[in-house]
Amino acid sequence: MNPLAVELNQTIEREAPAIMRMLSDLGRELYFPKGILTQTAEANQKAHRFNATIGEAREAGKSMGLDAILCHFSDLKADDVLPYASSAGRADMRKAWQAEIRAKNPSLGDTPISLPVVTSGITHGLSTIADMFVDEGDVVLFPDKLWGNYLLVFSVKRGAKAGRYPLLDIGKGLDVEGLRKAIADNAAKGKLIVLFNFPNNPTGYSITEAEADAIRDILVATAEGGCDVVALCDDAYFGLFFDEEVMKESLFTKLADAHERILAVKLDGASKEDFAWGLRLAFMTYGIKGGQGAYEALEKKTGGCIRGTISNSPNVSQELLMRALKDPDYAAQKAEKFEVLKRRATIARNTLADPKFAEAWTLYPFNSGYFMCVKMHGLDAEAYRQKLLNDYGVGVISTSDTDIRVAHSSVDEADIPALYDVMLECALEMRKG
Ligand SMILES: Cc1ncc(COP(=O)(O)O)c(C=O)c1O
Repeated sequence: MNPLAVELNQTIEREAPAIMRMLSDLGRELYFPKGILTQTAEANQKAHRFNATIGEAREAGKSMGLDAILCHFSDLKADDVLPYASSAGRADMRKAWQAEIRAKNPSLGDTPISLPVVTSGITHGLSTIADMFVDEGDVVLFPDKLWGNYLLVFSVKRGAKAGRYPLLDIGKGLDVEGLRKAIADNAAKGKLIVLFNFPNNPTGYSITEAEADAIRDILVATAEGGCDVVALCDDAYFGLFFDEEVMKESLFTKLADAHERILAVKLDGASKEDFAWGLRLAFMTYGIKGGQGAYEALEKKTGGCIRGTISNSPNVSQELLMRALKDPDYAAQKAEKFEVLKRRATIARNTLADPKFAEAWTLYPFNSGYFMCVKMHGLDAEAYRQKLLNDYGVGVISTSDTDIRVAHSSVDEADIPALYDVMLECALEMRKG
């Protein structure tokens, strides 16, 4: 049991022992994770200089946000937003998002994919997938650089065995051989769930076309060997692809029609793509070779799972996104925000190209998304994070014993060079002892 759960259980046992007798097995296992949320809360109090902890996009101290969404907050009609939406989502929204997926991923061509099912954020999509496809003891393979909430969703709540594949071969890119080995080591049970997340949180790495082909080939070989594969594409940061060589489409395009034993699931949504984190609006879309006859049944099961948890996702969020998609200025507004985030990544990279930083850390490759990540040299990342926050007023996230995540998404471009200078100063001071 997680030590945080043990601590909560001890308090409940002491204060109201009857509740301990009432809690289910899952209820006893539950805890509120430390990590990103706790560290962000701490930075919100203390990071008076720069706060690079927040996984949202901010500009000049405010949430970014598209006018195509914001302009409607005063003109919504009761009937457009107050009735229940259906469990699988509004029909117009589902069709519109499917058209968006095809437009943003032209190489899908006419590959049959399901209608997207609406979820209340990608987290809810992941949890729905876990309910539908994960039994206790099933192996779910995650990248070794990961968004920590996967563990709560898949392991604590569904009892999955959380395996890891190494994400990066520093200096090269995706660790293709590491992935191949991790999959081969876990394929014997005949069922495997693998999660892919590009652009990756926390590193900001996205794959090239060749790497996407390599992933598909590994999964197809695994399927050929008799293993059923559920391939989850967490596309939370889809579209924020900054470098020339990065593939500009989802890995889903390579997997949706790859093999009869590979079920590809695309999880994407408005949270990051449309700068609307709090609308809680996302989608899950299925693709499996030759299986289109099963899509409607699968969509209904997914709707049933949603009906049995939150019943349906907010209508107002679907209405706002529908209006934004129809706004002739929508694409231009998104492109403008994209440029702001891309410029920040470029400035970070140019700043970090200075050899003076090599003494403090090694940079993981990054080419996309909200974040970049460094591996500290000879320092405990959590101790460094605390010193940086307490002595220098700078908030970052420690994601492991060695790694520090910096969110450019929440730091204005003018502040980025100074942010890294302060980070370096703190690291060198700590190393001196
Ligand atoms: C990789 C990844 N997936 C999913 C999510 C959650 O997205 P949502 O806010 O839509 O639940 C996040 C949020 O930080 C994330 O980093």
